[in-house]
Amino acid sequence: MSTTLLGQPQDRVDGRLKVTGRAVYTSDQPAKNVAHGYLLTSRIAKGEIRSIDVAAATAAPGVLAVYTPFNPLKLYRPADQSEGANAGEPVPPLQSPKVQYYGQIIGLVVAESFEQVRDATALIKVDYAPETPAAGWETGMARAFAPDEIGDEKATVAILAEGVGSIDDALKSSPVVVQGTYTELIQHHNPMEPHSTLAVWDGDRVTVYEGSQFVVGLKRMLASVLNVDDSKVRVLSHFVGGGFGCKGSSWMHSPLNAAAARALNRPVKTVLSREQMFTLVGHRPALIQTISLGADQSGALQAVKHDVRATTAVVRPFIEAAAHRTSRHLYQSANIQVSETVVPLDVGAPIYTRAPGHAPGMFALESAMDELAVKLGIDPVELRMKNYAQLYPGKKIPWTSKNLADCYRIGADKFGWSRRNPVPASIKDGDWFVGVGMATALHGANRTEADAKIKFSADGLVHVSSATHDMGTGMWTAMSMIAADALGLPLDKIRPDLGDSDLPYAPGAGGSKSTASVGPAIQKAAESAKQKLIQIAIRDRKSPFHGVKDLSYENGRLTGGGKTEDFDSILQAIGRGSIDATETSAPGDEQKKYALNSFGAHFCEVKVNRWTGEVRIQRVTTVMDIGRVVNLKTARSQVIGGVVFGIGMALLEGSHLEESTGRYANANFADYLVPTNADVPAIDVHFVNKPDLIFNPLGVRGVGEIGITGITAAIANAVFNATGKRVRDFPITPDKVLMAEASKAVST
Ligand code: MOS
Repeated sequence: MSTTLLGQPQDRVDGRLKVTGRAVYTSDQPAKNVAHGYLLTSRIAKGEIRSIDVAAATAAPGVLAVYTPFNPLKLYRPADQSEGANAGEPVPPLQSPKVQYYGQIIGLVVAESFEQVRDATALIKVDYAPETPAAGWETGMARAFAPDEIGDEKATVAILAEGVGSIDDALKSSPVVVQGTYTELIQHHNPMEPHSTLAVWDGDRVTVYEGSQFVVGLKRMLASVLNVDDSKVRVLSHFVGGGFGCKGSSWMHSPLNAAAARALNRPVKTVLSREQMFTLVGHRPALIQTISLGADQSGALQAVKHDVRATTAVVRPFIEAAAHRTSRHLYQSANIQVSETVVPLDVGAPIYTRAPGHAPGMFALESAMDELAVKLGIDPVELRMKNYAQLYPGKKIPWTSKNLADCYRIGADKFGWSRRNPVPASIKDGDWFVGVGMATALHGANRTEADAKIKFSADGLVHVSSATHDMGTGMWTAMSMIAADALGLPLDKIRPDLGDSDLPYAPGAGGSKSTASVGPAIQKAAESAKQKLIQIAIRDRKSPFHGVKDLSYENGRLTGGGKTEDFDSILQAIGRGSIDATETSAPGDEQKKYALNSFGAHFCEVKVNRWTGEVRIQRVTTVMDIGRVVNLKTARSQVIGGVVFGIGMALLEGSHLEESTGRYANANFADYLVPTNADVPAIDVHFVNKPDLIFNPLGVRGVGEIGITGITAAIANAVFNATGKRVRDFPITPDKVLMAEASKAVST
């Protein structure tokens, strides 16, 4: 493997298409004779539909069909509701008059144009028999339960030192204890591109165009819900306008739209409205997290207790593993207990959202660590180093690679952490308080089986393909770079293909695992393709190397018997259009001996207006330990994107679920705020860039989601340093800053 290409900042190979508007996203996808679908959604959260008056809609201009539970399209339950089949919503719509959450699909109207179908849908009158939904913590608590397992552990995991009876005993005997309860509202993914789907049937085969983070999962779900064979469905997803987790699962608008296209015998396209994005395609649960940390005077942790209550949905239980993915193993402590209870509500299904578990868990844990540092009067970086885990707590296994100490050191240095004033509210700039905060970043290092294909073409190009995804992550470019590197060819000779369920299998682009999974498969396929080229060059009578022994491949050329030839001239000589090889790469048993994580550290400076409580982020320094960096430019963009997510989570985002109706009161971009340019300062990103060769032969771990983890706490900690006010309830809106009690540490 050459190292001249990997780790360099490389422009996106699809960048020109995107900035010139020529990248075709689903809703732009043309189709001959296309009709437009529009979803009708429930206006109650629980109960039954008595009747639906569709007369006016049916008679409206351009309307082709109105499907409801009283005139349904037949849909089947997804055969497999496991993550492989990836059904986000397991209840197919229109098969019963029952309503289980506000905004559930209760109809689909199809018309000649989008405007016609939207207007016709508005003419439908629904008569409901409503019941009272459980849409708040108190009503939901009556149904709360502890899941059987979370990841591969129990809902309560207690690691206790010998002779210690319980985590509470360990806390009681700790000289210093801090306790805090950290809360956040439901958050929605809200990618810019709404979920959209276009189904085009050709006989008994259907091609579905849809922005997806898992084309093979969507294919399988469509096949089972439409009751057709897997081989009859093809999903195409070349460009995805953001996913953030909600496009990693398959949702029911897609098979419903495809069933309408089948019934009407013409292509149908359905695009979700922004409001429908809040109820039909998942969300991050609301959380109440309580953390207690016990330490000795030197800061050494003696007890870590992290309890989580998270909302979920009656229609599909989902676990936001906030403690199990964070406090369970981030710090060394003789006594650690994590536990979680889930609280089912009558809402649409929650799902993986922007670093599920890690993002909220690190908000709570890293805020609590800051509270402990303040109480002990210890530098927050020092406190973290004091409790640095060399081995995975309770399992006594090392990480495949862990360079978190480098992240703290480099980050502190680049940020100028040593110049911080630890006394809260001590720095003012006019009407603004200025403060700094830091936190650790943590994510899982995931890798699953993946296939890739390498094809040498007689025209001198090499094609690399896999059914993987690029939702802005940079996969088009990463896979090109990995192939170019493995083959010793310049990037412009590589032609990547992805986002097509007919290509060799790739897992969903979730859990930040795509490059770590598909990258090694590309390397392996490249080796096989080279060997195949050599073997054929030796065997084929027309080959310039026929019968030559010791033929070797280097940089696109074969050398042996005193000559060197380019692969394309060999293919031309033997009259073959191409030679290809497909390979599978999967993690081996070796990995079971190790703990798997990516790490990082965030440092940030904020200003808080002393009169209005407004928080402005001034600058952020982030250092990531994610193994080898493939593309410095897109990896940096990934981290920046994660930090921007974190700014949203800490300061802006939250969905307000109305208890009485089960409706999201702010299901639009005017009231659900996400960060825009003015909210985002310069973000200085660095990488440790040490290949993790135990994790996989490419040495990469995922970079996707880790950026959002911890930055939330770094912001909250900086707000504390600026003002002396500890806000434990996200988002940190001005009212909360103004109302928060100032710490006694503040001298006034
Ligand atoms: Mo992530 S929301 O697990 O892609």
